[in-house]
Amino acid sequence: MQIFVNEMPLKRRIAYLKSKGKTIGFVPTMGALHKGHLSLIEKSNFRCDITVCSIFVNPTQFNNKEDLVNYPITIEEDISKLKNANTDILFKPTERVIYPPDTNLDVEIDLEGLDNLWEGKFRPGHFKGVVQVVKRLLDLVQPDFLFMGQKDFQQFTIINMMLEKLNMATKLIVVPIYREKDGLAMSSRNIRLTKKFREKSTILYKSLVFAKSVYGVKTPEEIESTAIRMIKDQGLNPEYFKIVNGETLRSVVSVSDNFVIAIVAAWAGNVRLIDNIIIKHEK
Ligand code: PAF
Repeated sequence: MQIFVNEMPLKRRIAYLKSKGKTIGFVPTMGALHKGHLSLIEKSNFRCDITVCSIFVNPTQFNNKEDLVNYPITIEEDISKLKNANTDILFKPTERVIYPPDTNLDVEIDLEGLDNLWEGKFRPGHFKGVVQVVKRLLDLVQPDFLFMGQKDFQQFTIINMMLEKLNMATKLIVVPIYREKDGLAMSSRNIRLTKKFREKSTILYKSLVFAKSVYGVKTPEEIESTAIRMIKDQGLNPEYFKIVNGETLRSVVSVSDNFVIAIVAAWAGNVRLIDNIIIKHEK
């Protein structure tokens, strides 16, 4: 695995690989890699000739400075996991490489309010930072395919809108959520859960499975309030549990909506977790 820190050597290598007709798959991460990330690498390896993974803890997407300071850094383990997963290139830039001084990298696109819903409401400015860094990384890596996890449903919906609105050549591939045996969605933040909250956190997946099982029998409002109660009963502090249209991320209009998901965010002690489940997706 080759490791690049700076812009020009990375760009030169990618240009060379492209000149040889190689397809490039890209998996952007903030490190603290787990099996969910590795499933993205695996998909990229399967689909593309070359897999590039980036590790960059992007400060502009953290609205909560404490979350940024506490974000787990496990670079040695990450590198060995990436090697074992047959990653071709690791891009591990410094902050100066991503955000060179005196360079405006704001992405001026209308996200049609998607960035102010759910995660955006509870983490103001978060998606502005995500869009900014993903656009910058895509400009550097120039991938044919971008691999992102379904767990960050709102994130990939917004990135997809960005790719479309900016007419970018990269195609987004969404990879299903990778779960622990007891259902907890894999997340870099899980390692910060206390033993008690690690056990209690399985309620998130249980509440989502419950929502899926009663959708169409109970109203979305009934399902949402029962799910919120289930989560609170386990001592977690929910921020939202919503049943929404999978494209607009707004409340479902009727049972005839053909793409429906349930999304949830909750605090398990001082760790914020998100998860979702696809309730139905009829094409
Ligand atoms: O999902 C993440 O880990 C981050 O939001 C991403 C896409 C790497 C951008 O910093």
